[in-house]
Formats: sequence, C-alpha cells, structure tokens
Amino acid sequence: MASPTALISETQAWKDLKGHVEDINKTHLRDLMSDAHRCESMMLEFEGLLLDYSRQRATVETMDKLLNLAKAAQLPEKISRMFNGEHINSTENRSVLHVALRAPKDAVIKADGKNVVPEVWNVLDKIKDFSDKIRSGSWVGATGKPLKDVIAIGIGGSFLGPLFVHTALQTDPESAECAKGRQLRFLANIDPVDVARNISGLNPETTLVVVVSKTFTTAETMLNARTLRNWITTALGAPAVAKHMVAVSTNLALVEKLGIDPNNAFAFWDWVGGRYSVCSAVGVLPLSLQYGFSVVEKFLKGASSIDQHFQSTPFEKNIPVILGLLSVWNVSFLGYPARAILPYSQALEKFAPHIQQACELSLSFVSMESNGKGVSIDGLPLPFETGEIDFGEPGTNGQHSFYQLIHQGRVIPCDFIGTVKSQQPVYLEGEVVSNHDELMSNFFAQPDALAYGKTPEQLQKENVSENLIPHKTFSGNRPSLSLLLPELSAYNVGQLLAIYEHRVAVQGFVWGINSFDQWGVELGKVLATQVRKQLHSSRTQGAAPEGFNYSTTTLLKRYLE
Ligand code: F6P
Repeated sequence: MASPTALISETQAWKDLKGHVEDINKTHLRDLMSDAHRCESMMLEFEGLLLDYSRQRATVETMDKLLNLAKAAQLPEKISRMFNGEHINSTENRSVLHVALRAPKDAVIKADGKNVVPEVWNVLDKIKDFSDKIRSGSWVGATGKPLKDVIAIGIGGSFLGPLFVHTALQTDPESAECAKGRQLRFLANIDPVDVARNISGLNPETTLVVVVSKTFTTAETMLNARTLRNWITTALGAPAVAKHMVAVSTNLALVEKLGIDPNNAFAFWDWVGGRYSVCSAVGVLPLSLQYGFSVVEKFLKGASSIDQHFQSTPFEKNIPVILGLLSVWNVSFLGYPARAILPYSQALEKFAPHIQQACELSLSFVSMESNGKGVSIDGLPLPFETGEIDFGEPGTNGQHSFYQLIHQGRVIPCDFIGTVKSQQPVYLEGEVVSNHDELMSNFFAQPDALAYGKTPEQLQKENVSENLIPHKTFSGNRPSLSLLLPELSAYNVGQLLAIYEHRVAVQGFVWGINSFDQWGVELGKVLATQVRKQLHSSRTQGAAPEGFNYSTTTLLKRYLE
C-alpha cells in the first residue's frame, strides 16, 4: 500500500497562511475597500459574468499565499487527473468525469483508456429523439393521448440538480415558450404526502413517469416508483407501463426487474457522481421533455464553457479556483463554518438547496455531501475543518428572516448572485425604478452593509439615543462576494452550476479529501433497514420492538400503539 501523502496542513504554504491570519485580523474591510488598486485586482470576468471578491477578508498578499497553497496541494495536477479520467475517487475506485457529460461531440475524454464522449452523445441523441416524440405527440399513452405531463421520481443527486435547473428555466422566456402546455413535477420524498401532491390534478392517461436512480436500489425512489406504477396500472392496466414509464440509471438489469422495458431506459455511468449528474440523462431527460432538447443543449454548452475556463485559465484569473481558495481561507483559516448562498433571483430559489447536497437539503448538496469529510483521501484524521454549512434563500426574502444574524450575529461569508437583466421585467408607471432595479438595489447594498457596518460614532452623529447605540451598531468586516451574471438564460444556468461544482472540487483538492464519495450517508440507511424490519414484524406478528436502545424502543412503542 502506498504511504499516505502528507496532510496539507503540514506544508509551509499552510503554515504561512496560518501566520498571515494575524495580519488580516488587524485589518477592517472598511480600510481594505478604500484601496482601489486592491479592489481592481479582485474582479474577474468571463463571457460577461463578473466576479467581485474585493469584500473578502483578504489582501493581495493573502491571494499570493493562497495560490502558493494551491501549488503545495498540487492543484494543477489534481485538476488534470480529473479531466484525464484517473480514478481520483479512490474509495470507490472510479473516475470523476461529469465534465464529459457536456463536452462537445468531437472532444476526447477517456475513462479507463476509452473515449467516453461518443457514448455520452449516443445517450443525448436518444434523449433528443425520445423527447421529440413525446413533445410532438408521435409517442402517445396507452389510450392514445399525448403525454403532456411528466413526473420525475428520484432523490438526492437524482432530484436536486434537475429541480434547480427546472426552477431556473421556468420563467426564462425562451425556455417557457418551449414548455407551453407541459408540466414537469418531481417526486422525491418517501412521505406519501409527496406522492399525493405530485399526482394531484394529473391524469395517468396523459402522464409519463421517469424513474431516475443511479443505483436503482434507493429505497425511497423504488417505493415511489412502485406506487406510481400502481397508480398507472390501476387506471390503465399492466401493459400501460411500457408507454408510461421510462428510467434513467446505470443499472439496466434492475430497471427491467421493475417492469420497465430496457429500451426505454437512458444510461449513464459510474464515473458520474450522483450530485454531479444533472448534466447526464438524470437532468437532461426530464428537462428535454419539458423544454425540448435544444434548450437543454444550451445549458450543457454553458457548463462546458466553464469546464474549459477551469481547465485552461491561469489560477489567478480562474473563477472556480479563486472561489475554492477563498472558501478554504474562510473555513480553515478564518474559522467561518458556514456560507450563505444568496441569489437575488427567485428563479434560483433551488440553487442553494442543490449546492447544499453536502447536507442533502437541495445547490448546497453538491458542497456538503462532497466536502463534509473527517479524514484525508488516504484515511488520515484531519486536524482542520473541511466543508461549509451551506444555506440560502433568494433575496430579498432572506433579508426578512436570517439576515439579522448575518449582520449582527455570527459572521457568515455570503455569496451574492444577481443578474443584469431580469427574466421577467416589470416597469410600473409612477415607480422610481423598475421592479428588477428595486431587487438589485438590495443586491448592491447588502455587501457594503456587511463590509462597512455602522460605528457608534456614526450613530452619535445621527443623534441616536445612547441606550440604542449598542443595538444599532454594526461591526461590519463581514466578508462576501458578488457574482453578476448578464442574465439567467439556459446557458448562464449551466455556467453557474459548473462554477460551483468546480469550486467544490478545488476545495476538496486543496484539503486533500475525497470530494466524490459519500460514505457518511450509509449508516443512517442501514439503521432504517433494521427499523423497517421491526415495523414489519410488529405489524404482522405483534412483536414488541427489540434490539434498540431505551429511547428508540419507547418511541417505536408509542408509534406502534
Ligand atoms: O443518499 C446519498 C445518495 O447516494 C446520493 O449521493 C445520490 O444522489 C442519492 O443517494 C440517490 O441515489 P440514486 O441515484 O442511486 O437513487
């Protein structure tokens, strides 16, 4: 067995940054922001997308030290190893090639010596063909009616990414035009309430069910699939499954076992991690059924543009690299355990939940499942924290809930995401500004409020009464970054997704962890299996709960009563 690589925290580059924290602690963002030269160096642009990270608690020197850390962590080599299809997901012995899912047709990306791009495009072509048939009505349901509604069943990565993209495209005029008369719904939770909500108002005769599961063993998805199969067959008879149910999976044998024709299955591969699978058939099929393949192709092209930027741009101008390094700085050096993702765009309401996937909430999925680890890739316990607690809510909604805490309570680095153009502009006569300008006024104001704060001296000048001064003081010095997109088209949504995916990878590469496995979700699943067995024997044989601790036994008894 190869000897473990030294932890990144043992390198000089890490120690230099540790020492540098003291220098930063002597600064305030108020002062850092007055240096125009520094601020100018902290703006990055790519295809009209602007990243401003001048409100991070960092100087030009910090950035140099972070770039040194990237070198010490062998970041360039690790990125190349990912794009070259090496088995960087070592605990599962797999390549990590979601970049191949959006590569142009003529690209060559190899896994285990074989170019995977032609296989990717075979599936994409099959999706285009199938979604064209469904959308045009040339494929009809068992009673001859067109299938205008789709329920996609899946959970975790087989749900959150597609939901985020769907939510983002719903109000994009071009995408919305292509979706006219169609509905796309997502069934994830095993809670029967989620089933009830999904089928409410839908007719099995006009509904197509897409079962999405990488493994095709996930308990929630399989039970939901059986439940909807029953919904269809009860109404239309068993043969209707052939017309009304299709699948997306890496496990075609199990697809057949569920009664779905493998010809109606859309494959993907074990080198696609669940939370990185939105650009595979997992997302592309349901989204193409709703919006048409040409819209989804633009989304893939947007993601691919960032892949190329990530792979080929020098680190100091590389958006995902800079974002990833800043996150490492905030978490491991400045000690900020959380990050708020704050899109000033209602269409991005499901972005934070997807990135959370690190915690399985919804954008937070990508980050928290990937980087919520306690050991290095070689299994050594880590003497530093990794991963962030991601959460978020679109602005301005969030301003009326948790912003109090981020302004005067805990310090939480914030990502502000906004767009120059609105998907749905509204100008009301007599108003000072358009509705989008009103929204964006907040996008521009909040980062400065966090950075500058408000001092007791300022409050005194405003004649604020002495007893209220402590309550109205804002310490400021709270870091944030701003990402301004030209608009929220399918292309830009793809770019946003890929930026965050690669940022997460950069963090994991620097920390020296495996961002592509998720062993931490297994234990709870195993224990649920034991409970399920117990519930079965209690319900069928009246057996009393046994083998559980006092607390669980008491709760189970109460539940069974
Ligand atoms: O619970 C974790 C997880 O394995 C995720 O990583 C994955 O996206 C999700 O479950 C669903 O898995 P599957 O696509 O195999 O149903």
